[in-house]
Amino acid sequence: MSAPRHHVHRHLPAGPRAPRLRQLQWLAEDPHGLYRRNYAEFGPMFTLQIMADPWVVLGDADLVREVFRGTSDDFHSDADGIKFLLGPEALLFMDGAQHRAERKVMQPPFKKTRVDEYAYGMQRSASDAIDELTTGSVVAAQHFFADITLRTIIECVFGIQDEARRTRLHELFGFSMRTMQKPAVGALSMAVGGARVRAAINMGTQLSGARYGKAQRPARTTLGQLFDARREVLDILAIELEAARKTQPGERLDVLAELVHTRYEDGRGMSDSAILDELNMLLIGGHDTSAITMSWVLYYLAQDLSDKGGVTERVRRELEDAFGDAPVDPAKVHQLTYLQAVIDEVSRLRPVANAVSRRLTRPMQLGEFALPAGTVVLPSPTIMHYREDIWPDPERFDPERFLGTRPSPFHFLPFGGGSRACLGRPFAATQMRVVLAEVLRHVDFARAATCATKDAMNGVLIGPSDGVPLEVLRVHGRKRVSQAA
Ligand code: HEM
Repeated sequence: MSAPRHHVHRHLPAGPRAPRLRQLQWLAEDPHGLYRRNYAEFGPMFTLQIMADPWVVLGDADLVREVFRGTSDDFHSDADGIKFLLGPEALLFMDGAQHRAERKVMQPPFKKTRVDEYAYGMQRSASDAIDELTTGSVVAAQHFFADITLRTIIECVFGIQDEARRTRLHELFGFSMRTMQKPAVGALSMAVGGARVRAAINMGTQLSGARYGKAQRPARTTLGQLFDARREVLDILAIELEAARKTQPGERLDVLAELVHTRYEDGRGMSDSAILDELNMLLIGGHDTSAITMSWVLYYLAQDLSDKGGVTERVRRELEDAFGDAPVDPAKVHQLTYLQAVIDEVSRLRPVANAVSRRLTRPMQLGEFALPAGTVVLPSPTIMHYREDIWPDPERFDPERFLGTRPSPFHFLPFGGGSRACLGRPFAATQMRVVLAEVLRHVDFARAATCATKDAMNGVLIGPSDGVPLEVLRVHGRKRVSQAA
C-alpha cells in the first residue's frame, strides 16, 4: 500500500476528507456502503474521522489476525457509543484482567452443553409464535423473530416462572427497545457521547413514579413512557434477583441463578448492580441480533421461492430427512448442515455490525503504520465478507460456499473475534437453527408486495430497513410441542 496521502495525521492511513458530521451521516445512511466504498478507494486500511479519535478500519486478514490475537490489555473496549443502552458494570465495557475474570464467570451458562438444554425453551417460544400467525396476514419478519428471541431470553436468561411478570417484562422491554433503538437516539449518542444520553435517561427513570404492580395513568410523552417502562423493568429485575438469591446452587438452569451463585477467583460474589447490568446487556445483545439475522434468512428464502432457486426446497428436504413427520428435535439441530450453511451465508452478506472496534492502549505498528495510543482500530466484517479474492462473486447468495469447509476466523467474522468475541455465539447458533427449523417446517411465506428491504441502522445494529414484510401463505402441520423439556 502507498504511504499516507494527507498531512493532518502523519501516522494514519488515508481516508475520506469530508467533515465529521458528513461522515457520520454516511455511516447512518449506508452503513455497509461507507466501508465498501472506502475500501475500494483507499485499500484495506483507511481512516474515518467520525468521533474525537480517529477510526482506522481494517479489511485485511493479517491485520484482523493481529487485532484478534492481541490481549485486552493492549486493545481496550471502545463501546462508548452504546453506553446509553447498557449499565457501566457490563462485560462489554471491561478491559484487561477485569474483562478476563468477568468472561470466566459469565462463560458457564453459555457453554454448548448448557445451550442444548435451552434449546427446548427456544422451540416452545417459536412454536407459540407460529400458533399466533394467521394465513393471509402480512408480518414483519423482524418483529416476529424478535418476539420469539425476547421470550427465549426472558425464560433462559432470567428464568422467570411467574406468568404475569414474564408477560409484563416482555411488553415493557419490547417498548423500551423500540424507543431506544430509534436511529435518532443512536445518532445523538454518537454525537454527544453514550454516557451522557444514558445519564439523562437514568435521571428520568429515577424520577419516574411508576412501579411494577401499581396501576397508573400512562405518561403523555414517549420519553415519559420510556422512563416509566424502565422504572418498572428495574422493579421486576429486583424481584427476580431476590428470588434467585434464595435458590440453591444448581437448582435452576437460567443465567440469573448461575450468576447469583458464581464466585470470582478471589472468592467474591457478584454484586446486585453488576448482575443487573450483565442481565440487561444479555437482554439487549441477545435478542435483536439473532432476530435480524433470521429475518434476512427469510428475505433470501422468500426470493428464492419466486426464483425457484431451490435453496428453500433443499432446507425443507433436510428437515424432512432429519425429522420425518415428528416434531423438530432440538437435540438434533446441529446435524442440519445445509440450514447452517444458509445461516452462515446470510451472516456473510448481512452482518449486524460493519466493524468491531478496539482502542489502542499504547502506540502500535500495524501494517505500514505506527498508530498512536488512543487510535480506534476496527476489523470489518463488511469488508472481509465482500472481498472478491476470498468470496468469488461476493454479491451472490450461495450457501454452497459454506458446505464442507470452515472459513478462517479472519475472513468470516459476524461474531467478531479474539478475547472479546461474542459470548452468546453458541446460544445464537442453536437458537437460529431451532427457530428457523420450526418456522420453515410449518409456514409458507412470500415477500409482501410492500417489501423493499435495504440495510439500515437499527439503533446500533445494522438490520433491514422495513423489518422484511412477508405474507403468510399457509401455516400447516402444527402439532403442539409438549410442555415438557
Ligand atoms: C446472530 C446473533 C448475534 C450476533 C451476530 C452477535 C454479534 C456480536 C458481535 C459482532 C460482538 C462484538 C465482538 C467483538 O467485538 O469482537 C458481540 C459481542 C457480544 N455478544 Fe453477541 N451476537 C449475537 C448474539 C448474541 C447473544 C444471543 C448473546 C447472549 C445471549 C450475545 C452476547 C454478547 C456479549 C455478552 C458480547 C460482548 C463480549 C465481550 O465484550 O467480551 N450475543 N456479539
